[in-house]
Amino acid sequence: MNRASIILDKDYVIGEIDPRIYGAFVEHLGRCVYGGIYEPDHPEADEEGFRRDVMELVRKLDVPVTRYPGGNFVSGFNWEDSIGPKNQRPAKLDLAWFTTETNEFGFHEFVSWCQKAKTDPMYSINLGTRGVEAAMNIVEYANHKGGSYWSDLRIKNGSKDPFNIKLWCLGNEMDGPWQIAHKTAQEYGRIANEAGKVMKWVDPSIELVACGSSNSEMPTFGDWELEVLNECYDTVDYISLHRYYGNRTNDTPSFLASSMDMDDFIKTVVAICDSIKGKKHRKKSINLSFDEWNVWYHSNEQDEKIKKLDKWGRALPLLEDVYNFEDALLVGSMLMTLQRNADRVKIACIAQLVNVIAPIMTENGGAAWAQTIFYPFMHASKYGRGKSLQAIVTSPLYDCKEYTDVPYIDASAVLGDDGSVTIFCVNRDMEEDYSLDIDLRSFGDLVLDEHIMMHHDDVKAYNSADNHNNVKPGKGPGGAFEGGNFTAVIPTLSWNVLRFRAEK
Ligand code: AHR
Repeated sequence: MNRASIILDKDYVIGEIDPRIYGAFVEHLGRCVYGGIYEPDHPEADEEGFRRDVMELVRKLDVPVTRYPGGNFVSGFNWEDSIGPKNQRPAKLDLAWFTTETNEFGFHEFVSWCQKAKTDPMYSINLGTRGVEAAMNIVEYANHKGGSYWSDLRIKNGSKDPFNIKLWCLGNEMDGPWQIAHKTAQEYGRIANEAGKVMKWVDPSIELVACGSSNSEMPTFGDWELEVLNECYDTVDYISLHRYYGNRTNDTPSFLASSMDMDDFIKTVVAICDSIKGKKHRKKSINLSFDEWNVWYHSNEQDEKIKKLDKWGRALPLLEDVYNFEDALLVGSMLMTLQRNADRVKIACIAQLVNVIAPIMTENGGAAWAQTIFYPFMHASKYGRGKSLQAIVTSPLYDCKEYTDVPYIDASAVLGDDGSVTIFCVNRDMEEDYSLDIDLRSFGDLVLDEHIMMHHDDVKAYNSADNHNNVKPGKGPGGAFEGGNFTAVIPTLSWNVLRFRAEK
């Protein structure tokens, strides 16, 4: 058995974990909305058409915030099409995904779904084909109490109380040539500033997210953030990051190390934000909203075929990645990366929530089940609240095609308000179990409540409509205390949650 160690101290705090890092994303794309969260003809549908079985799984994930309605979709979307009587809402072509949007599920439905799912809305506005006027109107519609055209229209449409949406995204991936009405950094920075300014005039309590780069491999990455923030630094509160990884060359060691790239991406964006802060002599810092992240590659080929076969179809099965066990390990490492950057990453959204590159899968008219990646997300969301601690990890390292010096043991630690300590850990080693020594001396008396562990002998194993439980967590081997040190056994290729409770 190999050996690794972690030193923790209750005073080595990285930062308070903002619960919003366990957010998710619902886009009008594929079967995320129609056949996902909403399916009025389904036997499990409630009186509003929301699937109760899906809602139950969403609640298990305990998602504090949900970004909506896009994604690329939003850059061609008129929010006004999604309000008023359902039978009068227009069906429109969606040029982002070459499908048809019926608008049957709209703004009020989303807000109501959020209330039932116990999540706060994070609403993206269209800064592709629309602009400042639509931006100020939607905030008036959503957040103004009444007595004006747009707020009275909301009341007429059935919602007397304002929606009070606190978090707004100023467009989506505006640096990407694939975006409807793609912009240069200067063009985008200007419109983000002007739209954001008037949105805050309507409701000064809102927070705004400016679009950063679509991913760290964009040729404009870096310059984009510098120019955009140069224009809108004083108006916005966060800048977005998006990143998806895939194991396209079937190279598991490199794939599992991709979270190192995510960490690098975060640290680079922090440095850029702070350089503009310095240049502008500001006291305010811009924090990060990692509002799209996940594994995405399994469905790419299939999507090309679907799009050709049924251009302009409705709720097509697009981006339906079926996640395997190694994807769950990387998702675990990505979650730990977010936790370890808790001082600056305040919002993050797994993309997406249901069916579309998602932890939850459904069949139209049939079952809903948890994909492999559901579990690390659920554990992190449930047990990863409190203070993120600096974990000093000493682990054997490996080199692979894409990265060097990759620690086999990837870990993070969270101190709960009740004195509990939770250690999350991925063993990236494809052959060896590890004996992990954890120095917990500064925390007083702790007892191990639970060691949750997820492992499968086949890295490509997945859950399906026929077998919902092929990959799921179980009980880990645990370990033993010697004084204030705990030695745990961390099996080969595994996701682990070690939950310690403070002894009274
Ligand atoms: O999440 C799927 C798509 O990925 C989103 O629409 C877009 O923002 C990103 O490119």
